[in-house]
Amino acid sequence: MVAKEMTERQMEYLEKAREAAVAFAERLGHAPKSYVETFGCQMNARDSEKLRGILLSAGFTDTEEESEADLVLYNTCTVRDNADQHVYGRLGRLGGNRKNHPERIVGLCGCLMQEPHAVEKIKKSYPFVNLVFGTHNLYAFPELLFRALTEPKRVFAIETKTTVLPESLPVARKHGFKSGVNIMYGCDNFCTYCIVPYVRGREVSREPEDILAEIEHLAADGVKEIMLLGQNVNSYGKGLALPATFAGLLRRVCRVEGIERVRFMTSHPKDLSDDLIIAMAEEEKLCPHLHLPVQSGSDRLLKKMNRHYDRAHYLGLVEKIRAAVPAISLTTDIIVGFPGETEEDFGDTLSLIREVGFDSAFTFIYSKRTGTPAAGYPDQVPDEVAHARFDRLLEAVKAGAEERCGRFAGQEMDILVEEENRQQGYVTGRTPHNIVVHLPGSKEDIGQIVRARLTDPRGFYYFAERVMNSKCTVDSKSIAFCHSEEQRDEESRQL
Ligand code: SAH
Ligand code: SF4
Ligand code: F3S
Repeated sequence: MVAKEMTERQMEYLEKAREAAVAFAERLGHAPKSYVETFGCQMNARDSEKLRGILLSAGFTDTEEESEADLVLYNTCTVRDNADQHVYGRLGRLGGNRKNHPERIVGLCGCLMQEPHAVEKIKKSYPFVNLVFGTHNLYAFPELLFRALTEPKRVFAIETKTTVLPESLPVARKHGFKSGVNIMYGCDNFCTYCIVPYVRGREVSREPEDILAEIEHLAADGVKEIMLLGQNVNSYGKGLALPATFAGLLRRVCRVEGIERVRFMTSHPKDLSDDLIIAMAEEEKLCPHLHLPVQSGSDRLLKKMNRHYDRAHYLGLVEKIRAAVPAISLTTDIIVGFPGETEEDFGDTLSLIREVGFDSAFTFIYSKRTGTPAAGYPDQVPDEVAHARFDRLLEAVKAGAEERCGRFAGQEMDILVEEENRQQGYVTGRTPHNIVVHLPGSKEDIGQIVRARLTDPRGFYYFAERVMNSKCTVDSKSIAFCHSEEQRDEESRQL
């Protein structure tokens, strides 16, 4: 069956799932409520919007309260061991409460479900989980939902490769004003520490026309900011019938009327092209922010990680991009404790951090992933050594970030307001550089771009005052510290 027919078949299943949800409501005595929780990266977050879209179309209502849900679905991550443990911990809690919800459907999907050992564990130790599917089955969620609603036995459906992309199905966006858009799925890079290529499969790029049609549709629906998503967006276009490059795609996305900001994630240093750097300098809608994971500052380790670039190449890219877009905000990912990391290798990472001057970094302790080459390397770093290095790494990143963040003090910027702040009379948004800013405002500002002066740098975020159309009179300096560590943690859980 070709992809289009498969998707049409799923639309028929959605209709059937609707009927099954009516019967489910009768059994429950109330309209069924669903709760979807995302673990992991933006890719998973976008997948969850698709899962929620299908659930809402099938007649479920969304709830933020897991305890009152009649269907609980965890969209799992397995990039590091703590991601796995988090899911098992939550399942343990859910299992403990199951007597209160005899009819509840508990589902698991996402990356961890592509691991056979995890599926075995769920089969044996978590009998109350009655729906399990993997990353390659997302397109078939209407059918799987129908089966979970109608079949007495547990539903397990895990495919091993992508046959149909999960497109053209309903989507329920978390935010009205911004949206992720998948431009490619999977990864072909096989960094030796990383499980993603095994659980997400081979790289598949979407046709540019399909991507643009989706973005036009989003713009017509009020979306102002787009985040193009892929594990390595710089290799976009491989395998398409007509040649396409990421830089070319970006330029076309920037032409879409109504879209005011374009971001992308993630870039691999080995594939970052000069064309992309030129596009970043020329296209006004392209935000001056580049997330460019370096992983390590040591050439020896970069080689063992199979990253296909060295320190000099990375520093050369930084120089080029800063020459083209001087105020660019640069962020990165760093791993400590990779097998064989010596004090000297770690010193190279610290010196690279100082040399580059990152605006922020996501820092990780190496986590052994069964099935990846690095898991079998003999010289694993003892936990206490890795932890001690991690603390030093964090200090270095924080010191650099605080120094960099202050560089915008006094400047006026456009802030896309994202949410109300816990501090009454304040809202929180982001500059084009992706810097978090708290400013006076109200919920009417959410989704609007407002002009503000960044008055007060606070390490990795700012307080600002509005400079135009400002109805608010609260003094931005008088309020308490309300950009909490929690918010910071929330951000570091992404990718
Ligand atoms: N495709 C993206 C990153 C995806 S995973 C890229 O290559 O840039 C996000 C980050 O998790 C990686 O950049 C890496 O820093 C970290 N990571 C991946 N596998 C890991 C592991 N086994 N242990 C610790 N950190 C890991
Ligand atoms: Fe993992 Fe990213 Fe490397 Fe792919 S490019 S293997 S997702 S770290
Ligand atoms: Fe995790 Fe899968 Fe993303 S393993 S980081 S959710 S691609």
